[in-house]
Amino acid sequence: MSISDNPIGVFDSGVGGLSVLRSIREQMPEETVLYFGDQGHVPYGPRSMEQIQNFSEGITQFLLDRGSKLIVVACNTASAAALAYLRGRFPDVSFVGMEPAVKPAAETTRTGRVGVLATPATFQGALYASVVERFGAGVELFQHTCPGLVGQIEKGELDSANTRAILEDALHPMLEKNIDTVVLGCTHYPFVIPLIERVVGENVRVIDPAPSVARQAKRLLEAAGTKSLSQRRASVRFFTSGDVESMKSMLPVLLGETGDVELAVWKTDTEVF
Ligand code: DGL
Repeated sequence: MSISDNPIGVFDSGVGGLSVLRSIREQMPEETVLYFGDQGHVPYGPRSMEQIQNFSEGITQFLLDRGSKLIVVACNTASAAALAYLRGRFPDVSFVGMEPAVKPAAETTRTGRVGVLATPATFQGALYASVVERFGAGVELFQHTCPGLVGQIEKGELDSANTRAILEDALHPMLEKNIDTVVLGCTHYPFVIPLIERVVGENVRVIDPAPSVARQAKRLLEAAGTKSLSQRRASVRFFTSGDVESMKSMLPVLLGETGDVELAVWKTDTEVF
């Protein structure tokens, strides 16, 4: 068995990374995937950098112990808080992380005004500051942390009155500022795109970075010569540090497919099984 047959490891604080997994499955159906949702600790957004680094390190080790050839940090918050840390801790491992898609937004906005939705930890991290510095020149950015939205999506409330109210609170002030683009800087949020589109109307573009993250993962595997050579659709194994039944019930809704779901019990903040 060659390393090409090994899985891609993907993780998030919960079900948000399934929006990235969906794109990985579309672009690389032949790749086996291990998906870890840290639902025992979701949400990450209000947590400290140190805690998110500990969780991310434990999960990365868990995925590497199961043979992952590439780690996709399918979580903006974990990328903001821990990607540089993970690269330091695991220098031989390839990582793909996420940053709010300010670049494509800045390239296409006509009003020069862009809304960014992400968690508090993402906005506080150095990664977001560097994104703004590199790509935000000449564009006015309006940020919002959408308190409670990740929890609503974890509960499967993709279209409820409460979820809509959270989005209206975030988006109405931005619409008054004449934004024409909304960047989804949290991997949970693509699951409420239909609701966001109803709030912002058809003249506002909504950017989901998942397809470009999957493309980047594909490029890295091709460059390393570790892409799967199989012609068949491969399987996904799901792990959760939270409730197995809840993860199981969300998979068909969010991903349109199911797989083996296992429980990964957290022993300490840094160690998982
Ligand atoms: N899905 C996450 C992100 O992309 C994290 C949400 C959370 O746990 O707060 O930021």
